Amino acid sequence: MLNSRRITGRTNEDFVRQLKHPKVQTDAGPEAIPRHSGRRRVDVRRLSRPLARLRRSPILRALVGEARCWLFDCRHGVRTCGTVDLNKLTIKGDNARHGVFYHPSHPKFLFEIMGALDIDYERYAFVDLGSGKGRALLVASEFPFREVRGVEFARELHEMACDNIQRYRSASQKSKNVRSIHGDAIDFEFPTLPLVLFLANPFGPGVLVPVLRRLQASLASHPRDTIILYAAPFHSDLLERETRLTCVERSVYHNTYRAPHYPATPY
Ligand SMILES: C[S@@+](CC[C@H](N)C(=O)[O-])C[C@H]1O[C@@H](n2cnc3c(N)ncnc32)[C@H](O)[C@@H]1O
Repeated sequence: MLNSRRITGRTNEDFVRQLKHPKVQTDAGPEAIPRHSGRRRVDVRRLSRPLARLRRSPILRALVGEARCWLFDCRHGVRTCGTVDLNKLTIKGDNARHGVFYHPSHPKFLFEIMGALDIDYERYAFVDLGSGKGRALLVASEFPFREVRGVEFARELHEMACDNIQRYRSASQKSKNVRSIHGDAIDFEFPTLPLVLFLANPFGPGVLVPVLRRLQASLASHPRDTIILYAAPFHSDLLERETRLTCVERSVYHNTYRAPHYPATPY
């Protein structure tokens, strides 16, 4: 009986389809109506908004990030994942109280910031102060840096970094000159090569200030291009106060510092 059915379609076609499939309401438009069988078709356009919301969800993003880290380790036969508290580790020197716990940077982020450098990699040293299990060193070795150095004051993390450097498998690796150094960053002598310095918020001002002063002294005695990639830049004011580098890029996760107009400007 026609009258007992709720006919809500907008076109003749809707009308005919609803007669064939009376349970289906057509308010959603003709796409929701089955064309070939009794099975309901999925309107992908209706899913786009919930999917976009899901993609923005912090939980999902964190899970995807963790999955990427885990895949990096699996693909390259290394172990760089996991966070580690400093009080579970054997620390060299007296600066544990200034140090930040081990929490590795995401591989995608590392590839992006290193890949965006507009430099002749072969001339540059890459240095990660507070290098942990060495993930940033491994990613840096995918670029043709002259040398790649990490400084880590926790013995257990340094040993894992050495192990990871040995184990790392990658057909695309460009630099084999990769080393983890066991020591406090406060004592590190910077190489006199042009420099890319990576700081993933490894320590507070108690160590950062002396490190920056040492860097500035090194640049004054051996003028050279230097780029600082400072991730989670909580103490960015100190970089501009203690060195003659200026911030050339601010992004969500990191700041980039460099001498203005290099190489014309003396340090
Ligand atoms: C947030 S993690 C960063 C790890 C690594 N750079 C990365 O991005 O994957 C900070 C690291 O700095 C190390 N660290 C903190 N203070 C240090 C110091 N004074 N000298 C050397 N390493 C230090 C910690 O042990 C920890 O491994």
